[in-house]
Amino acid sequence: MTAPIIAPSILASDFAKLGEEVAAITAAGADWVHIDVMDGHFVPNLTIGPDVVKALRPHTDLPFDVHLMISPADPYLEAFAAAGANGISVHPEAGPHLHRTVKRIRELGCTAGVVFNPATPIDAVEWILDDVDLLLVMSVNPGFGGQSFISSQLKKVQALRAMIDARGLDIVLEVDGGVTAATAPLCVAAGATALVAGSAVFKGGPAAYADNIRALKGG
Ligand code: DX5
Ligand code: ZN
Repeated sequence: MTAPIIAPSILASDFAKLGEEVAAITAAGADWVHIDVMDGHFVPNLTIGPDVVKALRPHTDLPFDVHLMISPADPYLEAFAAAGANGISVHPEAGPHLHRTVKRIRELGCTAGVVFNPATPIDAVEWILDDVDLLLVMSVNPGFGGQSFISSQLKKVQALRAMIDARGLDIVLEVDGGVTAATAPLCVAAGATALVAGSAVFKGGPAAYADNIRALKGG
C-alpha cells in the first residue's frame, strides 16, 4: 500500500514559535502543512487568518493545505490564496453555492477541497466531482484538536473512495481528526490517501516529530 500524504495540523504546535514549528515538521518529513482556520461562528474556536499564513510562507516549501472552518468563506478565498495557500477546502454548510466556491478556488490557482462534517452526506459533491481536487472527511466535529476518532466515518471514506474510483478521477481523499498511529491504517485501508494529524505529530516536541510522522506513514 502506498504511504499516505501526511499533513500535520499546526493547531497542535507551539503558537509562540509557529515559524520554527513549520520548519521542524518540514525537516521531519511532513508532506503538507495543514492550517486550520476557525471563525468562532461556524465552529466554536478562533485561530488563524491570512496574515499568519503569509508570515509562515517563507518557513517552508511544502504545500499549504488550508482548511476553512468559516462562514461565509467566499469573501476570504482571495486573501488566503494571496497569502500562499496551495489548497483551500471549504465545508458545504458554509455557503449557499458550493460549485461557485470551488470554481473560484481553482480560478485563484489553488486546488479545491470539500469537507464533510460527521453528519454531512456525501451527495453534497456528487454533481460537482469534476470540479474538486480533494475530499476531506472529518473524523471529529471540527473546532478543536485532540478529540477522539469517530469510527463511523470510515464507511464514508469507503463510500467516497468508491465514488472517486467509479468516475476514474484523481482526487485526494483526506481524513482529519483523531488520526493516530492506531487509526491511520484504518483510514488508509478505507481508501484515504492523505491524513491530517495534530496531536499525533506534535506530541513529544521537535525531537519526536520524525518518528511521529513515520509512525503515521505505517512505520
Ligand atoms: C479540527 C481540525 C483538525 C485538528 C486535528 O477542527 O480540523 O485539523 O486540528 O487535530 P488532532 O489530530 O489532534 O485530532
Ligand atoms: Zn483541519
